[in-house]
Amino acid sequence: MATTNPNYDKLQAGYLFPEIAKRTRAFLAANPGVSVMRLGIGDTTEPLTPSVIGGLHRGVDKLADVKTYTGYGAEQGNAGLRAALAKRYASMGVELEDDEVFVSDGAKPDSANIQSIFGANNIVAVQDPAYPVYVDSNVIAGRTGAWNGSGFDGLVYMPCTAANGFFPDVPQGKVDLIYICSPNNPTGAVATRAQLKTFVDYARQNKAVIIFDSAYAAYISDSELPRSIFEIEGAQECAIELSSFSKEAGFTGVRLGWTIVPKRLVCEDGEAGKIHRLWNRRQTTMFNGASNIVQEGGVAVLSDEGQRESARMVAYYMKNAKVIKTGLEAMGLTVFGGINAPYVWVQTPQGMKSWDFFDKMMSEAHVVGTPGSGFGPNGDGYFRLSSFGHAEDIERAVDSIRCHLRIS
Ligand SMILES: Cc1ncc(COP(=O)(O)O)c(C=O)c1O
Repeated sequence: MATTNPNYDKLQAGYLFPEIAKRTRAFLAANPGVSVMRLGIGDTTEPLTPSVIGGLHRGVDKLADVKTYTGYGAEQGNAGLRAALAKRYASMGVELEDDEVFVSDGAKPDSANIQSIFGANNIVAVQDPAYPVYVDSNVIAGRTGAWNGSGFDGLVYMPCTAANGFFPDVPQGKVDLIYICSPNNPTGAVATRAQLKTFVDYARQNKAVIIFDSAYAAYISDSELPRSIFEIEGAQECAIELSSFSKEAGFTGVRLGWTIVPKRLVCEDGEAGKIHRLWNRRQTTMFNGASNIVQEGGVAVLSDEGQRESARMVAYYMKNAKVIKTGLEAMGLTVFGGINAPYVWVQTPQGMKSWDFFDKMMSEAHVVGTPGSGFGPNGDGYFRLSSFGHAEDIERAVDSIRCHLRIS
């Protein structure tokens, strides 16, 4: 008799984005003729750049010729792309061997799958608020208790608030796996070197492992801020880094990412090399490699011209972020993020609950954003606006907020 995984029953019924879609549909049905402007979802909108299109075409052309055709590739990724990624890290002063880089079909699957190589009893700590995949993947794996109305029992929530600049203090007690995302989704906060060092020190003392998500690293323009946790001394002994071409190069639909698992990484029962071996085993067992066409696109992103083009695309979105940030600040709203990250984190006026502000924003300004409470208990009282969108749409949405949202 088959049974289902009971941990799925612990997940909260209304996942954030389906609930947003449901409320938006209900609003549109009740208000015929009205259209809404979406500043909610973190999906790219601008076309791929010429050198990336060239790389993808090269990938297709190779498949058309018997002399260059390839079938299954290495599960860990094509040698050329792994080397190009290692070279990128070298340019940040981070020395990696090419085979410490694992190419994947994106940071979301890797961030969900990475927990599978760690013990069932590991205590997990997450930033609160956080990208929901870190929590849900550990709930499904059985590392938490039940939902208690504001969070999951057994999970350590590390509050990220205005008071601590949206970067948490290290946990008081002992935890084993620590998820950190910088630049952060949803708060837009970027950890400084000193802040990351507190976690690297904690992890080394406690033989904990940090899972560091740098999917938005390309959005950092301040040269003092670290783009990789491996810029912090000692991090290769205690951290794994996940990253992606999605937001850097518009690959959200194309699908390509990577994960760095250093050979020096250790944990309580894992000597240097073991975690690297386990991730290799996991990937060779359960993944058959990223698309060969797409990997050609990835190599093109990392070329000099590809990097110049990506920088222009990132600058385009960051201009949108500025429009949102300055527009809302001019109204007297308190706004965080949006400087080295594509997300603007808005404090709701008069301490409104996030979902109440969502409804108000939709009914008064016809703008759809993302309620902060969907990212964790400490997200309540905040609202995320995304700068991914066509500039003219962003400007229209901000104008509508400024003209129609009543905040006092
Ligand atoms: C923090 C974070 N990590 C990972 C991802 C997903 O990346 P990918 O498209 O590479 O799966 C997202 C997407 O929104 C994200 O916000």
